[in-house]
Amino acid sequence: MTRQAENGQLWQTEPMAICSRLRAFSTSIFTEMTELALRHDAINLGQGFPDFEGPEELKETVVEAIRSGRNQYCRSAGLPELVEAVARHQAEHYQLEYDPLAEITITCGATEALFATFQGLLEPGDEVIVLQPFYDAYPAGVAAAGGVVRPVTLPGPDFRIDAEALERAICERTRMIVVNTPHNPLGRVFDADELGAVAALCQRHDLIALSDEVYEHLVFTGEHLPLASLPGMAERTITISSLGKSFSFTGWKVGWACAPPELTAAIRAAHQFVTFCTPAPFQLAAAHALGLGEAYFQPFLAAYQSRCDVICDGLTTAGFDVMRPQGTYFVLADIRSLGYDDDIAFCRMLPAEVGVAAIPTSVFHVDPGSNRHYVRFAFSKHRSALEQALERLTTLTSADTSGSSATGRAAKGSA
Ligand SMILES: Cc1ncc(COP(=O)(O)O)c(C=O)c1O
Repeated sequence: MTRQAENGQLWQTEPMAICSRLRAFSTSIFTEMTELALRHDAINLGQGFPDFEGPEELKETVVEAIRSGRNQYCRSAGLPELVEAVARHQAEHYQLEYDPLAEITITCGATEALFATFQGLLEPGDEVIVLQPFYDAYPAGVAAAGGVVRPVTLPGPDFRIDAEALERAICERTRMIVVNTPHNPLGRVFDADELGAVAALCQRHDLIALSDEVYEHLVFTGEHLPLASLPGMAERTITISSLGKSFSFTGWKVGWACAPPELTAAIRAAHQFVTFCTPAPFQLAAAHALGLGEAYFQPFLAAYQSRCDVICDGLTTAGFDVMRPQGTYFVLADIRSLGYDDDIAFCRMLPAEVGVAAIPTSVFHVDPGSNRHYVRFAFSKHRSALEQALERLTTLTSADTSGSSATGRAAKGSA
């Protein structure tokens, strides 16, 4: 149902119109924090996209493709140019061999690959284990497919995968485990021991693994280890990645899913009725992008390393206890060192009081009581924006927030 606002705009007033499967997902924290940022003219370190653009030659590829008539529906599973480029990328970087035509599907961003995976593989009531905090598309995608999310908490401050906790969550309805490495929002890059434990459980209990690797080229410490590269895992793993983060064109929405043929068939069964195909000009740009190689990736990573240093040092100076990220373009900061204990209240206060927007980590949990003291800042921004935000954040320690529970400030002595 809709109602007419004073300015004539129609807006929704009746959340009951949303089907029961998706009602819990109606307004995201990103919408709320972006609105607050706009209202208070705050620097938005909440939303995770770059405020700069990727290589000019990729834009030229798109324009040229449009001008030369690559504008109609194309192969549903992806242009041959792109599936071959993805196959080469997986072989060159990780020694993973995929048949481009039978095992790689191009989607509208990793988001559609996730959605199609859940739609294509889950029966109603099937359980999917997700590590929390999680990227928010996982529970929504599982719910849309009629599945049930079984969360397993990664407890701070180390946020390591606990194999025993993971095994306790497995039951006869469990179908799949979702892993995200490098991890949003934690900035963790899971190591061989952690991923080895996941692999062993998947094999022992005959589970499918979904590995979301969209930050694969943003690793500062350690190295990216695809779950599919572990012994016995290629035949049961769906690896999802995309163009957006690695090439700073998040709005182009080109993603891919690499999986053995029978899992690929399930993904494609859904994909053909969700979008059918991904816009061809952007697929051609993605194929070109994956061929850029180290001459592109090295300076790309170095620039992010420097942004990472700027924000981590600045947040530390501002009084936060900083979890230095091993990968991604997010950093978690523990707000207890500043005397706060509620991440949601803290993030609601921040745009108005300080002029910066961030994201509370507890919203990325099924159980919002977990990990309540961590706030996520995105550093995919120009250095000047980061420096200005950090300057504002240094006023936090002296900000007059005393006595206001709405700010999430801890009661005396509880910090
Ligand atoms: C962990 C993770 N997976 C998937 C996505 C979605 O990627 P895409 O824009 O390619 O749909 C994001 C975007 O923020 C993400 O952080």
